[in-house]
Amino acid sequence: MIPGSELSEPTAGTSASRLLVVLHGVNLGLLGERPVGHYGRVTLPEVEAIVCEEARAHGWRCECHQTDHEGEFVRLVHVNRHADALLVNPGAWTHYSYAIRDALELAAGPVAEVHLSDIERREEWRKVSVVADVASVRVAGRGPEGYREAVRALVELVESPDAATPMKRS
Ligand code: DQA
Repeated sequence: MIPGSELSEPTAGTSASRLLVVLHGVNLGLLGERPVGHYGRVTLPEVEAIVCEEARAHGWRCECHQTDHEGEFVRLVHVNRHADALLVNPGAWTHYSYAIRDALELAAGPVAEVHLSDIERREEWRKVSVVADVASVRVAGRGPEGYREAVRALVELVESPDAATPMKRS
């Protein structure tokens, strides 16, 4: 294989097989054990079931990944940059990773930034999101339901771009 050739493989589908790729970042694999006051008791497999159920309800395919390695997260953005939409929760990287921000800028479709907790109402440093300017959809503080809302907004952006109104955090 030519080095890097997997990065040029387009994966976007037709309307019958649109693809949502969900990327979870650092520490999100341990949802269910993290502070309940911020994240509740939901586990990552449960979040992934919710998000993919919503995507499939709209006729989309759905793929989920989680990594604790920043470079791997960037690679996952690269290889999935032609997906019809990306939904990301980069965890703590949200607040400082310009590498992830620059990778997300390469996405062909809309990007949703989702957080279980309300990052605007926590520590000062969490109020900064360096990926916000490359996200068409932002949802925070809505728990697992926020993922459903983000999927609906992404589907609307892709399928009815003229009608869609990008969501604000609630
Ligand atoms: C988070 C919020 C981040 O500040 C934190 O570092 C996380 C999870 C959320 O989903 O609320 O790991 O992205």
